[in-house]
Amino acid sequence: MEVVVTRNIPSAALNVLNKRFKVDLWQSDDIIPRETLISKIKAKDGLLCLLTDKIDKEVLDSAGDRLQAVSTISVGVDHINRSECTMRGIKIGYTPEVLTAATAEFAVGLLLSTSRRIVEGTHAAKRSNSVCFFILCQKYKVTNDVTACVLVLLVDDKTTDRVGTILILRIANFSHSYFFKKDKAFEENLWVHFASFPDLLRESDFIISCCSFNQSTDGVFDKEAFKQMKNSAIFVNIARGGVVNQDDLYDALSRNVIRGAGLDVTTPEPLPTDHPLFTLDNCVVTPHIGSASEKTRTEMTMLAVENLICALENRAMPAQY
Ligand code: DGY
Repeated sequence: MEVVVTRNIPSAALNVLNKRFKVDLWQSDDIIPRETLISKIKAKDGLLCLLTDKIDKEVLDSAGDRLQAVSTISVGVDHINRSECTMRGIKIGYTPEVLTAATAEFAVGLLLSTSRRIVEGTHAAKRSNSVCFFILCQKYKVTNDVTACVLVLLVDDKTTDRVGTILILRIANFSHSYFFKKDKAFEENLWVHFASFPDLLRESDFIISCCSFNQSTDGVFDKEAFKQMKNSAIFVNIARGGVVNQDDLYDALSRNVIRGAGLDVTTPEPLPTDHPLFTLDNCVVTPHIGSASEKTRTEMTMLAVENLICALENRAMPAQY
């Protein structure tokens, strides 16, 4: 059997695949060009991909009848046309659970670095060569204390619930948490409270988006949403860039409609270096590294490899979507 792998993966994972299949590897840390993927996937049995690879009808058409499984090294599957896969009997593997803690912890880091202006402070320290100046400068006193603030999570399905749950536990000592989700078990077990979307926008000091990207969350953080937030609100997105209208966010940040934003996800990814969001002091952008701890990325890759092997050997995948 033959499989395509769309990125340099750790050699341990590659060796496992090489022992079983003929592997056509895109041997690079860069995103595989679309035309290359379309050509490589012809007559292949399996595909190991990343969330940066759009697996749509055109790619599946190019693969032809032999393709049996698409295994993604991600928990999100919004880059894969799931209905086309179902119609063609193609199994989808993904990587839930193993990245939950790393992603939740990263969200805490992004929240703190945005609210306490850590990145901006680092740049200021380098520029001024004087920490005292930084401490005394009035401008930098405008930061949000995380303690005793209300924090809100936009969580909407089982997968993102997991990240939300760990996130709540990690920040339990800082703040009260509210959810845009009606779930008694959540409220009782985690001591969180349900809030409607408009209420949470109005009441929160911090808003963390960790939902999946779908029709109901597409562009949900737009001009109207930012207008309803407090002027001192900090917005953090670890979900998908598509949940935010980026022009509206730029507008809200540059006109101080909200105080700051921390974005691990953007549209597109990577975000072009000349993008206006990079010109703002009150916006921290990271290149989708929520799950990028060494242990987590290795576990994700191994799980994705196992998913692919099981699918092609007609065994139950450890994590089938
Ligand atoms: C995923 O795997 O979908 C996450 O976005 C990684 O951070």
